[in-house]
Amino acid sequence: MQYLKVERDNEIVQITIDRPDKLNAMNLDVMDEFISILGELDDDSSKVIIITGSGQTAFSAGADIEYMSRIEPTEAEKYALKGHEVLNKIEKIEKPVIAAINGYALGGGCELALSCDIRFASTDAHLGQPEVTLGICPGWGGTQRLLRIIGPARAKDLIFSGRRISAEEALSMGLVNRIFSSESLLSETKTYARTVAKNSSFAVGISKMLVNRGMDTSLDTGLKLEIYSWSLCFSTNERQQRMRAFLEKK
Ligand code: COA
Repeated sequence: MQYLKVERDNEIVQITIDRPDKLNAMNLDVMDEFISILGELDDDSSKVIIITGSGQTAFSAGADIEYMSRIEPTEAEKYALKGHEVLNKIEKIEKPVIAAINGYALGGGCELALSCDIRFASTDAHLGQPEVTLGICPGWGGTQRLLRIIGPARAKDLIFSGRRISAEEALSMGLVNRIFSSESLLSETKTYARTVAKNSSFAVGISKMLVNRGMDTSLDTGLKLEIYSWSLCFSTNERQQRMRAFLEKK
């Protein structure tokens, strides 16, 4: 891969967008590489995925403005569809994906983080949706996922103004889960990932699906889905082993 660095540490996979000279802006090649690696991770033995950016400055400065300055609506649609394909894959893969936001997460970079399940940021990170300053609206799910994560009033504030917010402000509005010093961001993220990886991947994966589905369905349907999913967990050997281990320890 040219733009993504993939490192495996037992069951934890770290994907680093490695285009630091362009602040990890995501061109079509970056997106194709994401599609390829996410396809591999979909059914391998990895349990948690971490996405971060290389260098000290940016998680990702978003979609590639140089490329966007040259394209017409037909290519723009293809670029949007590619972005949606990547972000939908991240959202749907039945294992947790954590964004370790190590600097700017702007436009598509913020949207990439929004598609992850958990967002940790360094204290010096900045997030934002500056698309309107470039004459476009967010195009990789920003209007829809931001709305669902921080609510319509805050989403509109960020999108209409295009302002960049600090990690602290992002934390206060629930846009990031936790913040760490830039030196400890990755190690803290890995420690968290190891905690998650110790749990049943079947149970974690099905929980991810339930929470995601719950955002778009009625409470009644979501609760029904939970009953059937919960019952399905009883079909796994792992459930038996884990419960037996608990009882035997006593
Ligand atoms: N697409 C393509 N290239 C980008 C980019 C993007 N989204 N963001 C930054 N770059 C490139 C710059 O053009 C520059 O390239 P160069 O060295 O070849 O000239 C390099 O990355 C460094 O960026 P620069 O702007 O010089 O860094 P900075 O520290 O002064 O500013 C930012 C950092 C993030 C504030 C600024 O780069 C920025 O606003 N980027 C655009 C963010 C954005 O609007 N994203 C939404 C896209 S929809």
